[in-house]
Amino acid sequence: MTYSGGDTTLFESISNDIAEKGYSIRPYALPEDLTRLLLNHLIELPTEKFKRAGIGRAKDHMINDFIRTDEISWIARNNEASCAWINWTESLQAYLNRRLFLGLFSFESHFAHYAKGDFYKKHKDAFKGEGNRVLSVVVYLNQHWSADDGGELVIYDKNSRGSTVIDNSKITVLPSYGTIVVFLSEEFPHEVLPAKRDRYSIAGWFRLNNSIDNNIDPPS
Ligand code: OGA
Ligand code: MN
Repeated sequence: MTYSGGDTTLFESISNDIAEKGYSIRPYALPEDLTRLLLNHLIELPTEKFKRAGIGRAKDHMINDFIRTDEISWIARNNEASCAWINWTESLQAYLNRRLFLGLFSFESHFAHYAKGDFYKKHKDAFKGEGNRVLSVVVYLNQHWSADDGGELVIYDKNSRGSTVIDNSKITVLPSYGTIVVFLSEEFPHEVLPAKRDRYSIAGWFRLNNSIDNNIDPPS
């Protein structure tokens, strides 16, 4: 599966949204064939491929039941669905770099499963100065999700661009099949409210190239 031309309109919308407000919410926008492929793959994934998600990185990594209770499975190019997903994110990355000069360099993502009652408390995906994750992408794979099913993503928009911080307006997103959410990782705290049924998503992050010390770029 390739996505050379068909997604240009979508990528353009996402790009415009990011430029205007720092985030983009596009309901049912992921290509249908890709969404179906991902859901089918996810359903077939054996449960032992999922691990309790932790917080923090490397040596600071720990499991914290007060912060998040979901299970995750990191995505690699080892099956058709994951390859199609990574190809799609590479096209998005190329488009955003061309339009917004974001300098997105690498991408990592995982499937996430929130069972009934699971949540992820308010958090940010990156902190200023850490220079790592710059852009977060979440897509949802849940058919027939209704407002009664809980599990909403809540994004806190500080509305602070160019003016004083006035309020913390909340943007609530239902995790519906094919919905895409993209936001600047350092700017938007967000949370996942407790799901009332199984909730499936993919969360991913684009990083800048901060490998200068490892001589990847620029070459020494
Ligand atoms: C995350 C996250 C949001 C969601 O995994 O960091 O915020 O709606 N996920 O699944
Ligand atoms: Mn997050």
